[in-house]
Amino acid sequence: MPELSDLMLAWYEKNARVLPWRGHPDPYAIWVSEIMLQQTRVETVIPYFDHWMKKFPTVAALAEASEQTVLSAWEGLGYYSRVRNLHKAAQMVVDQFGGQIPEETRLLRKLPGIGRYTAAAIASIAFNQDVATLDGNLRRVFARVYDVSTPADSPAGEETLWSLAQEQIPPGRAGDYNQALMDLGSAVCLPQKPLCLICPLMNMCKARSDPESRPVLKPKKPVPHRNKLAAVIRQAGNVLLSLRPSKGLLGGMWEFPSAQAAANSAGELVEGIDRDYSIVIKPISFFVEVRHAYTHFTLTEYAWQCQALEVPASPALQWIPIADIEKYPMGKVDRAIAAKISEFQ
Ligand code: ADE
Repeated sequence: MPELSDLMLAWYEKNARVLPWRGHPDPYAIWVSEIMLQQTRVETVIPYFDHWMKKFPTVAALAEASEQTVLSAWEGLGYYSRVRNLHKAAQMVVDQFGGQIPEETRLLRKLPGIGRYTAAAIASIAFNQDVATLDGNLRRVFARVYDVSTPADSPAGEETLWSLAQEQIPPGRAGDYNQALMDLGSAVCLPQKPLCLICPLMNMCKARSDPESRPVLKPKKPVPHRNKLAAVIRQAGNVLLSLRPSKGLLGGMWEFPSAQAAANSAGELVEGIDRDYSIVIKPISFFVEVRHAYTHFTLTEYAWQCQALEVPASPALQWIPIADIEKYPMGKVDRAIAAKISEFQ
């Protein structure tokens, strides 16, 4: 029987997706694409990637850009620690590696935001190193082909799957081999209802009779729900925005002053905004409700039109012309509130 890698390379020759970073001669482009693809689907990434490469065409251009410009270019992709790390890593490449992206996985992993998977993807695709990688798609393919019953998200299961992926590497072709498996996982070896009849690995797949039973995954913990109350405070064509601390969720992005609460209540809003910002407000009317699912919790945010009675002087609190609000990087929830404000202008 032909080897898994032969079958995959032959399949890839006919079925590879045409993607803007494929065949790109610049390792920086591969790096950017791999960071964007970490938690985001290919179709969503493509327009962001094209725009990014025009705006920051080189590592040096990215290293020199301001954090706010970089956050704005990423806005809508989510998981913003990725872009803060990419920015920091570009500065390290310039300062510590003479502007050259390192080729070795061990060096790549010294850069913030590059873990085992991404280092191997960059090393194989951009530098043709013989290293396997293992994202969610590859994990599923290998768990099925070799009928791995150990949970794929346990340390033992992961090691088994990494070894299987590495054993099959065709020397000198790891980049295509890895990408072939990524494409197979996203187009054929689907989580539900995989298209086994058109799969090049059908004859060797040990889970062929019940593919959906693999990979085995540990049970997921329930995701908690939070409520937040936000204050939309307008004054003479301006609105009051707050800058989030540079670390943590949505770090370095702007938001409407807001506070966690048990429910949608004007009283809790007044109390929370005073407690968290020392801003004294008077709620006028409930304005809009926005829901969003983050990785670790789901959120319902209730925004109220408010009048400010007292706003402390602080660089993290700024009156922004409503007409300029687009220029301030924000997460999805605050952007939805901002869009509503612009609608009612
Ligand atoms: N997902 C992550 N990296 C990818 C790549 N290079 N091609 C297709 N899908 C991917």
